[in-house]
Amino acid sequence: MPSLPVLRVLARELLTAERAPRILEPDLVMDDPHKVAAYVQAGRPGGVMAAVYLFHCAQICEVIQPGETVIDLACGPANQLALVAQLNPDTRFIGIDLSAEMLGRARAYIAELGLKNVELRQGDIACLDGFDASSVDAVTSTVALHHLPSVEHLHRTFAQIARVLRPGGGLYLVDFGHLKAEKSIEYFANQYRDRQPELFTLDYLYSLRAAFRLADFDVAHAAYLKHAGRLFSTFLAPFFVAIKSPARRQLPPELKRQLATARDKLPLHHRRDMQDLITFFRFGGLGSSALRA
Ligand SMILES: C[S@@+](CC[C@H](N)C(=O)[O-])C[C@H]1O[C@@H](n2cnc3c(N)ncnc32)[C@H](O)[C@@H]1O
Repeated sequence: MPSLPVLRVLARELLTAERAPRILEPDLVMDDPHKVAAYVQAGRPGGVMAAVYLFHCAQICEVIQPGETVIDLACGPANQLALVAQLNPDTRFIGIDLSAEMLGRARAYIAELGLKNVELRQGDIACLDGFDASSVDAVTSTVALHHLPSVEHLHRTFAQIARVLRPGGGLYLVDFGHLKAEKSIEYFANQYRDRQPELFTLDYLYSLRAAFRLADFDVAHAAYLKHAGRLFSTFLAPFFVAIKSPARRQLPPELKRQLATARDKLPLHHRRDMQDLITFFRFGGLGSSALRA
């Protein structure tokens, strides 16, 4: 059962006539070393984003296969990418980001973990010129699309994904959706302010304000990616929006065990976040069998 404050947010989102505007991220490309450091801290094991990354990791594992090449769009410091790459050592990953600062952090983290299956490239996700048509087996992207400056850029990015992804390839794109009321946005941004760096709280607030509306995702998905995957959003309020291809494999028992162990190691409050995410996505049509307790 979701907590009372979350239920209050949902009720507000259902009833409000407010339409908070989309406000662009102050840092479209994340290059400020202090903000990058705060983001890294929040995303590493034990950080406030741990449950969210694990949820997306389990989803991604279902749409990729050993031997494949996967590109991760706007990989940032590789928090998500490293988690997935560790659990899928026989899959090759290429992380793409525009920020040199982020890529520096990502490089250091990949080296620290000794991962041999990750390559990093500087580039713009709205212009994947370095990749031939149908040359990629799967495309992933987590909590990054809201950094794009306009709906037109979202369309350009989806058009690029449709071009480079081979027919029948895997797809998992996920990002925040725009909430209607500024109060709801502020609630989620501040929910864990005592457990996260101050700069991360601010970054989170900016991210939620910059999120695209579900209707924007809907139109861009219908135009470019309908053949590749279905659009899902969390039930009642589109706090998260995801586009996922059909699962492309049964997870091997060892991988399932590793995901379950990671889930069981989460502190209680993070396990509750994970359960909320599972529940709200499940009622939105997106199951998460690998993480069910
Ligand atoms: C909030 S971070 C997400 C990082 C990572 N995907 C994760 O799940 O932690 C957003 C990232 O998008 C990058 N970014 C913003 N616009 C971009 C663009 N047009 N092309 C490539 N990267 C971009 C930023 O530099 C930043 O690293």
